Amino acid sequence: MDLIKKAYEISERIKKEDEFLIVTHIDADGITSGAIAFETLSRIGKDAKIIFLKQLDEKAAEKIADENRFVWLTDLGSGNISLLLRRKLEFVISDHHVPEMTYKWQLNPHDFGYDGSYDLSGSTTTYLVSRCLGLNYDLSPLAIVGAVGDLQDSREAKLVGLNRFVLEEAIKYGYLNAIKDLRFFGKQTRPVYKMLEYTFDPYLPGISGNEKGAIEFLSSLGVEVKREDWVRWIDLSREEKRKVVSGIVRVCMEAGYSYELIKKIVGETYVLLEEEEGTELRDAMEYSTLLNATARYGFEEVGLRVCLGDRDKHFRKARALLQEHRRNLSAGIKLVEEMGIEELEFVQYFHAKSAIPETIVGIVAGMSYSIASKNKPIVAFAYSEEGVKVSARATKELVERGVHLASAVREAAEAVGGSGGGHSIAAGATIPRGKEEEFIQLLNKIVGLQLKR
Ligand code: C5P
Ligand code: C5P
Ligand code: C5P
Ligand code: ZN
Repeated sequence: MDLIKKAYEISERIKKEDEFLIVTHIDADGITSGAIAFETLSRIGKDAKIIFLKQLDEKAAEKIADENRFVWLTDLGSGNISLLLRRKLEFVISDHHVPEMTYKWQLNPHDFGYDGSYDLSGSTTTYLVSRCLGLNYDLSPLAIVGAVGDLQDSREAKLVGLNRFVLEEAIKYGYLNAIKDLRFFGKQTRPVYKMLEYTFDPYLPGISGNEKGAIEFLSSLGVEVKREDWVRWIDLSREEKRKVVSGIVRVCMEAGYSYELIKKIVGETYVLLEEEEGTELRDAMEYSTLLNATARYGFEEVGLRVCLGDRDKHFRKARALLQEHRRNLSAGIKLVEEMGIEELEFVQYFHAKSAIPETIVGIVAGMSYSIASKNKPIVAFAYSEEGVKVSARATKELVERGVHLASAVREAAEAVGGSGGGHSIAAGATIPRGKEEEFIQLLNKIVGLQLKR
């Protein structure tokens, strides 16, 4: 059966119920997924409540069961089907995480030969169900924001696979434009020098984390920006943009970055045409970062309200949270630089203890590739309430060579009394305190085996 037909079947199942509990994940992809499900249900007159989870464990499953509603899990659930079945819950899933097993009411790209890291996100999977339940084309830009939030465009500097089906729908109905541009955060909302200063992906020597360096870099190209003038990327002329892009390429070449990496500095970027120019919501990358900045700090409700159309109180709050998020990411990457990254034979790692919030340590781990060796997965530890949070990130090349972080991290975590999962390229876990050393040695061994296979 094909995936679109499955989406239709699930939508028919949804129509039979009246009271829903939407359960979703606390990141940009999760919020947009939840917002799409919530809006879709309310448009067809269904009663819906929504809850956000960091992960789906026994405790969360109990909470879900207590609600006594029909459950729609978005951007999570596929890794925990047996847990949900044991609780005798009735549920549908639209998720893109590696499924634990097949399940009749699950829409998941992996079941149809697609890759959940690139071909479909939680939000685009959820949108495919949504569009069977009404004229919901206007929700397609939100779906794209979620896919970009999960970095699904990172392999080819554009969205690929079934994400493009959703993208084309968004373009066709006039909600979105895909344009070739610099793929940095802050094109709409930050002064150009700030945008450069806050770019760590790739790390620009002399510019990243260095305001003065960023201003001097621009002026060396003949692009004079003064601190007091709020000149953003979108305000530059074509010629100025061209100069800056060539300058960045030169800096990256001097830093010895690969052609692969440099090529991706420019790529497809997504403009939300219904949103006001110069706001975070106009650009899918910035929008998704804004959402991460709410959810990862316990304010997922704020992000949800923004997705559902609030451009007032909640939007202002989200913007304030974003400033803090950017500062934390910048401080996080600086900390990793100072602390250094420990190398084992097949993996590398750092332990942030309590210096980086566990909810963003995965983002920092991913960004650390700009200062770390690219031929080993990066593992980050941070203390959490439940014990130790583990976040692991790999590169596309490592995945092609056989690395599968979700299965490696899950196996190593379970061996030390924890649990985990995720994708081949990005995974996470929670393990008991004091088990870090045992975990990392085990993970090192498993990744070694994956590479040899
Ligand atoms: O649980 P979830 O699906 O949200 O996790 C997505 C994570 O995977 C993000 O942290 C994202 O950065 C990472 N990812 C990645 N490269 C991809 C796809 C996802 O680093 N190609
Ligand atoms: O957790 P994951 O790896 O998905 O993180 C992806 C997120 O990282 C993006 O949505 C964005 O919020 C954040 N990010 C950022 N600045 C960077 C790189 C990533 O804000 N330079
Ligand atoms: O938290 P982090 O961004 O590192 O998560 C990376 C991926 O691992 C996400 O897809 C997340 O859903 C998954 N994960 C998981 N179980 C955990 C922690 C993270 O499946 N305990
Ligand atoms: Zn996701």
